[in-house]
Amino acid sequence: MSARLVVLISGAGTNLQALIDASARTSYGARVVAVGADRPGIEGLARAERAGLPAFVHRVSDYPDRGGWDRALAGACAAFEPDLVVSAGFMKLVGDPFLNRFGGRFVNTHPSLLPAFPGMHGPREALAYGVKVTGCTIFLVDSGIDAGPVVAQAAVPVFDSDDENTLHERIKTVERGLLVDTVGRMARDGWSVRGRKVRIGR
Ligand code: GRF
Repeated sequence: MSARLVVLISGAGTNLQALIDASARTSYGARVVAVGADRPGIEGLARAERAGLPAFVHRVSDYPDRGGWDRALAGACAAFEPDLVVSAGFMKLVGDPFLNRFGGRFVNTHPSLLPAFPGMHGPREALAYGVKVTGCTIFLVDSGIDAGPVVAQAAVPVFDSDDENTLHERIKTVERGLLVDTVGRMARDGWSVRGRKVRIGR
């Protein structure tokens, strides 16, 4: 039986698309069963629709407080009984109600080699700092900002000619492959966490 993935997005959804494409192979071991977003009208939701996947949207502004939004998001995810929730370009921090439900099986992807350059502008900050190598990180979400235990990382070179966009696009090409590979391995082989150390495999 393949693992059930709920994928959360806020934008273009190219990482989501990579997971949808991987889901077509039964040997992959995981499949996207639903897509959630924090805003309507994004390309990622069109991708979900084209793939025939159910989708839900919960905007923070539709709720009186952040806790209400968090509970609604957690409830919407739980309705699809996910084995893993994947944050793939989801530009919101979740709080305790969500983490209490999905902590330890909520993975995020970030376009830098954490702990360097957490937050909203990983590629921009890597360029500004002048690093020659950056990359992407798949990690288990905890209550910090891009601070949870690292599951996998891949390095990407920074070129002198890069601007934020060219660097982020080069990272995203690697990131999609790393996300698909890591989620598939977690689904097929399981994982364990000891302190900050994540190990895939039984
Ligand atoms: C990715 O680089 C992700 O790490 C970052 O935003 C980008 C999302 O890209 N937070 P997409 O929406 O999957 O195309």
